[in-house]
Amino acid sequence: MDIYSLIKPILFKLDAELAHNFTLKSLKLAQKIGILSFLAKMPRAQPRTVMGLTFPNPVGLAAGLDKNAAYIDGLAALHFGFIEVGTVTPRPQPGNAQPRLFRVTEAEGIINRFGFNNLGVDALVENVKRAKFKGIIGINIGKNFDTPNERAVEDYLICLRKVYAFASYVTVNISSPNTKNLRQLQETAALSLLLAALKQEQAKLFQAHRRYVPITLKIAPDLEEEQVEKIADLLLEHGFDGVIATNTTLARDAVEGMDNADEAGGLSGAPVKDKSTVVIRQLAQRLQGRIPIIGVGGILNAQDALEKMQAGASLVQIYSGLIYRGPGLVQEACKEIGSFNAN
Ligand SMILES: Cc1cc2nc3c(=O)[nH]c(=O)nc-3n(C[C@H](O)[C@H](O)[C@H](O)COP(=O)(O)O)c2cc1C
Repeated sequence: MDIYSLIKPILFKLDAELAHNFTLKSLKLAQKIGILSFLAKMPRAQPRTVMGLTFPNPVGLAAGLDKNAAYIDGLAALHFGFIEVGTVTPRPQPGNAQPRLFRVTEAEGIINRFGFNNLGVDALVENVKRAKFKGIIGINIGKNFDTPNERAVEDYLICLRKVYAFASYVTVNISSPNTKNLRQLQETAALSLLLAALKQEQAKLFQAHRRYVPITLKIAPDLEEEQVEKIADLLLEHGFDGVIATNTTLARDAVEGMDNADEAGGLSGAPVKDKSTVVIRQLAQRLQGRIPIIGVGGILNAQDALEKMQAGASLVQIYSGLIYRGPGLVQEACKEIGSFNAN
């Protein structure tokens, strides 16, 4: 039995957000006093180059767990191949009222309606600067809740400019269900404008910094196949560097009748797994390897991680699986993916 199986029943008795904060603070402390090696074994090195970056292994931490980049070093000790922090917005904002995080334990799911609670992009950048971790850091950017969609591009540009020098890659999040109308930015006309503006700014920043920082787009699982194809076409047209699929789902079919299933927000974990894999497969079909896909959604065991790779992902990320299965999942997933590549 690993240590996480002993801790989990205690954490699951606490309110979900309290458990979340307690765990992150404990992780930070454990890392500082150097006892984290008991919790997470080092996976065998499996370097691979994606978007011009060399990832030590293909299993990353998904956005939203470390919104302010305050826990990078503790999380790095869990041996993720890369860590995505954020979503961060230009100005600090408190997010939605609590409670806003719920377990759907019966289905190994989580519902959250945090609403981009974060300390703002300046605070995030200070934290990234302070971190000792030298590995790959993705910075996930969004817009403030009170910025109208017509002005969303400005928010993304503000964040891109501020994080550029400190990010290995930047993720543009237009797929959270908890910021009103955010997902409308996935529609063709709005998305085309956003992608064009970001690419133009990236070119300027590349000139100024002499370093190319790839930009990925993170999309929702609640899209029709036609919409996925349209998004893939736009990514190709604008020369985007990658796509992350997927965010949480608004669907509740997989959790109907279960405790907390009717809470508003985005559902993650096992109930989003198949939806996310379908989107990855549709993207892979359309993109034909021209742009890499980072697969995320419902990876709770090694087999789930392999499934994402088989559907067309080049890298994977986990969030909910960490809560239900613990940090051992990183190493397990790495091992399974390694054998897939060897075949
Ligand atoms: C509590 C919580 C907060 C999240 N916050 C963010 C966020 O700020 N930005 C983002 O792009 N995704 C966010 N996500 C989505 C995850 O990054 C991931 O895409 C999704 O949960 C599916 O993966 P999973 O099933 O492994 O959790 C959040 C997920 C959870 C559970």
